Amino acid sequence: MEKLQTPAYRPSFSSHTVLVTGGAAGIGRCLTLSFAQAGAQVIFADRDQAAGEETLAILAEQGLLAHFIQADLSDQTQIEQLARQTVSLAPAGLHVLIHNAAIANAHTAQVFGADPAAFDQVLAVNLAAPFHLTRLLKASLIQTGGCVINLASTRAFQSEPQSEGYAASKGGIVALTHALALSLGEHGIRVNAIAPGWIDTTEWQKGRPDPAIWPEEEHHQHPAGRIGRPADIAAACFFLASPDAGFITGQTLVIDGGMTRKMIYR
Ligand SMILES: NC(=O)c1ccc[n+]([C@@H]2O[C@H](COP(=O)([O-])OP(=O)(O)OC[C@H]3O[C@@H](n4cnc5c(N)ncnc54)[C@H](O)[C@@H]3O)[C@@H](O)[C@H]2O)c1
Repeated sequence: MEKLQTPAYRPSFSSHTVLVTGGAAGIGRCLTLSFAQAGAQVIFADRDQAAGEETLAILAEQGLLAHFIQADLSDQTQIEQLARQTVSLAPAGLHVLIHNAAIANAHTAQVFGADPAAFDQVLAVNLAAPFHLTRLLKASLIQTGGCVINLASTRAFQSEPQSEGYAASKGGIVALTHALALSLGEHGIRVNAIAPGWIDTTEWQKGRPDPAIWPEEEHHQHPAGRIGRPADIAAACFFLASPDAGFITGQTLVIDGGMTRKMIYR
């Protein structure tokens, strides 16, 4: 098996432009590679310059190109710059906008935490940035009849202790998804979210680590029998971005191997 596994089913997105935020590492790196393999012009944004360059190198090994834009999405000026650069790279319009970047550590902002600014920072990157970037790119999406995909989390619906900021941001993303779907629907834009459960991103991180080996019980606790992979999310993005998903908008697709359907009593 390829070390960096992308979806088995590879549709064609040639003549499409896709913007992936947080596209330099983790799930975002898989989205960047998957859409590039599918023939799309991929623009990916990330605050991590080194991870961005490493992602470009991984694509180059497969004869693929993408545009990397270094941007910190907690900064409104950099969000505006990213939107301008995207429009100039995609004069015929943007087809797919994937809001994937996040402060993904669920425990960054918590009720027992010491840093009062942490909550606002998590909300800025995970919730406000997707709103502002969509607002700034809506004309470009309208040009193509494009779509937006937001990365939420099963933590939008259930929690463990000390995860208030992340949970609030992901709950917000689910609500932002249906609100945007209503406002942008009459302009031909669909907006959906994906709520992943546990997705192991080890080999997709900066430095290209070897895949992690998890105890079997970690896999088997999932009704699907395994921990999730970034390719599971990329495959769903392929579908949600395709014309076959033309009657789906405002929805949140849970991809968690069945964990949130499992009743647990001890
Ligand atoms: N991996 C999981 O198990 C899981 C589960 C549920 C939801 N998610 C969601 O999926 C998405 C990707 O998660 P991941 O596990 O790949 O995370 P990750 O931390 O591995 O990757 C996030 C990427 O976003 C970038 N980023 C962070 N802050 C940024 C900022 N201010 N500006 C620009 N880029 C920034 C990082 O540099 C990184 O490349 C996130 O929205 C996360 O909340 C992940």
